[in-house]
Amino acid sequence: MGAEQKNEAFKLENLFNVKGKVALITGGGSGIGLMATQALAVNGAKVYITGRTKEKLTRVAELYGKNIPGEIIPVAADITSKAEIQKLVDEVSARESKLDILINNAGISGETQDTDAQGAEPLSAALFRDEKATFEQWESLYRTNVAQLFFTTTAFLPLLQKASEAQRGWSATVINISSISGLVKNAQHHFPYNASKAAAVHLTKMLAQEVASSGLRIRVNNIAPGVFPSEMTAGGSDDAQKSSLEKDKYEGKVPAARPGKDEDMANAVLFATTNQYVNGQTIVVDGGYLLAAGTL
Ligand SMILES: NC(=O)c1ccc[n+]([C@@H]2O[C@H](COP(=O)([O-])OP(=O)(O)OC[C@H]3O[C@@H](n4cnc5c(N)ncnc54)[C@H](OP(=O)(O)O)[C@@H]3O)[C@@H](O)[C@H]2O)c1
Repeated sequence: MGAEQKNEAFKLENLFNVKGKVALITGGGSGIGLMATQALAVNGAKVYITGRTKEKLTRVAELYGKNIPGEIIPVAADITSKAEIQKLVDEVSARESKLDILINNAGISGETQDTDAQGAEPLSAALFRDEKATFEQWESLYRTNVAQLFFTTTAFLPLLQKASEAQRGWSATVINISSISGLVKNAQHHFPYNASKAAAVHLTKMLAQEVASSGLRIRVNNIAPGVFPSEMTAGGSDDAQKSSLEKDKYEGKVPAARPGKDEDMANAVLFATTNQYVNGQTIVVDGGYLLAAGTL
């Protein structure tokens, strides 16, 4: 191979090529899921998006699926039910022979608690006697943020493996969207959410290891975002399914002095998707949040 041909591989369109790839993104109708959807579809991938609210998904497909090389296809589903996950597998399998990219992004944050109370009685009252603090709250958080990653990933293994077998030099990829909340040592006023995200980080490692040791060529990584605008963090979204956060709130808190931008997330998604040598890892995209907050 000549030097010119060797240079060819270094071009952006080859390093980050997702043209013709088939992807499924859970929670693709808003926030980080929508950022990931645009990153892949705008660069030529066919992206199935799922969530519980059909209107959000349809709006995203209509708005962001126009005049781009890829496609955005809405399929409503609740990924906290095995029957619904199976239905999703059946729907995608009926239309596609392979799945190149699975992004397990859907998640919920749950209630907050007063973790700042001083003294044993006040702290116990805030954390135990609080009416919102229930076993059901923990179960719901774990159902959506942890168990769902396990079941969606394991349900799609055959279709993911087919993608790896179909293309030389390509391994299908699973990206779990975890959080820096699973890596910081404080509870950020929500113990169950942070514990669920730490579980998501460890689950990613176990899945990557077990999948590889079973002889499959599927990479499993997680992206741990810092603060990004979304329905979860901003409390809603506009007509274009986009959310916004005030920049000033982050000055002095995060070295980047701002929340994450769509492009910051898009860049990380393209990297995690295309880099064939990254497996079982946590990719932190947080503007330096962990530097300021301290990790476990
Ligand atoms: N934004 C941040 O700063 C940040 C930081 C770190 C990590 N994260 C993580 O990023 C992921 C995306 O959250 P986001 O911040 O972008 O918030 P978001 O805008 O609320 O997005 C979450 C999406 O998940 C979907 N979803 C929730 N439960 C579902 C279910 N049972 N079945 C199917 N879809 C479901 C929601 O749609 P429906 O309600 O229509 O189902 C929604 O579109 C989450 O895992 C979150 O924990 C976010």
